[in-house]
Amino acid sequence: YVPKEVEIIEVGPRDGLQNEPIPISSAKKKQLIRRLADCGFSRIETASFVHPKWVPQMSDAEEIARFSQELGLTYLALTPNMKALERAIFVHVPQIAVFIGASETFNRKNINRSINDSLTEYKRLIERAKKAGMFVRGYVSMAFFCPYEGAVSLEQVRNVCESLIKFGVDEIDIGDTNGQANPRLVYERFLKLQELFQETSFVAHFHDTEKMALANVIAALQAGITKFDSSIGGLGGCPFSPGATGNVATEELVNMLEKMGCETNLNVDLLKQLSSFAKSLSSR
Ligand code: HMG
Ligand code: MG
Repeated sequence: YVPKEVEIIEVGPRDGLQNEPIPISSAKKKQLIRRLADCGFSRIETASFVHPKWVPQMSDAEEIARFSQELGLTYLALTPNMKALERAIFVHVPQIAVFIGASETFNRKNINRSINDSLTEYKRLIERAKKAGMFVRGYVSMAFFCPYEGAVSLEQVRNVCESLIKFGVDEIDIGDTNGQANPRLVYERFLKLQELFQETSFVAHFHDTEKMALANVIAALQAGITKFDSSIGGLGGCPFSPGATGNVATEELVNMLEKMGCETNLNVDLLKQLSSFAKSLSSR
C-alpha cells in the first residue's frame, strides 16, 4: 500500500544539531533553515527552549525562532516545561512540542522529572498553549526500546498517549529515539495505537542507529501513517540517549517515496545539494 501523498516534517535544525558538541553559529543555523525553507517543507522544527546548560547547542532558541518567523515559516519548537513555554510565547512560536519518555528512567534523565510529574506539568502547559492559539505536538520517546530499561511495552506507550490526548495535543509523534525498532514491531505498534486512538493524528520519528529507519517508514506506511519526521543529512541524536545516531535522512526518505510514486511536495535535487552543507556543520 502506497498513499498518494505524505507530509515530511524536517527536524534537522533541532534534532539534527542539538547533540553537536562544538557550537554552531546562529548564522550557519539560519543559512540551513533558509535553504530548507526553499525545499518546500510545510513545517520545520527549528528550535528548542531547553536549559542552555543541559543542551548548549540550542541556547540561541529565541534568535532562531525570530528568524523562522521572519522567513514566514510554520515552525515547531520544543517546550519541556512552563519556563520553556513562556519563552516560546514571548517570541510567538506557532507550534510547540512537549516530549515525554514512555520509559521512566529515560524521562528522568532527559527532563529531570518522573513521568507523572511531567504529565502534571504538561496538563497546565498544554492548556496555556491552547489559549495562546498554539498547535501542540506531543512526542512519546523510547516508544519501542529504551537504552536503560530494554523493551518498552505497548501499555507504557498507551498510558502516556492517553494523557497527552486528554490534555488536547493536536498530534502524537511516536519516537524510536535510540533507533532500535524493527519493521515488524513498528507495523504492529502503529496499527494498535491507531486502533486505540482512532481520532488521533500520529507522526513517526525514526532514528537510524540500526540502519532500519527507511524500512521502518515503509512498515509505518503500511499501518496507515502519513506523517514522518526526518533530518537533512541524517544528522541528529538525543544527548540523553546513549549510542543513538541521527534521524532518517530527509534526502533519502524523499528520494525513496518519490520513486514509489508517493508525493512529498519537496524538491529532491535541492535536498541532495543541501545534505552536504548540513553534514559539513557536524563535527562527528
Ligand atoms: P531542571 O533543571 O529540572 O529545571 O530542568 P528546574 O525547573 O528545576 O529549574 C532549574 C533552573 O533552570 C531554574 O533557574 C530555572 O529557571 C531554569 P534558577 O532559578 O536556578 O536560576 N530553567 C530553564 N532555563 C531555560 N529554559 C528552560 C528552563 N527550565 C528551567 N526551559 C529541563 C528541566 C526540562 C529544562 C531540563 O531537563 C532540560 O533542558 N532538558 C533538556 C532535554 C532535551 O533537550 N533533550 C533532547 C530533546 S528530546 C529528544 O531529542 C527526543 C525527540 O527527538 C523525539 C525522539 O527522538 O524520540 C524529541
Ligand atoms: Mg529524535
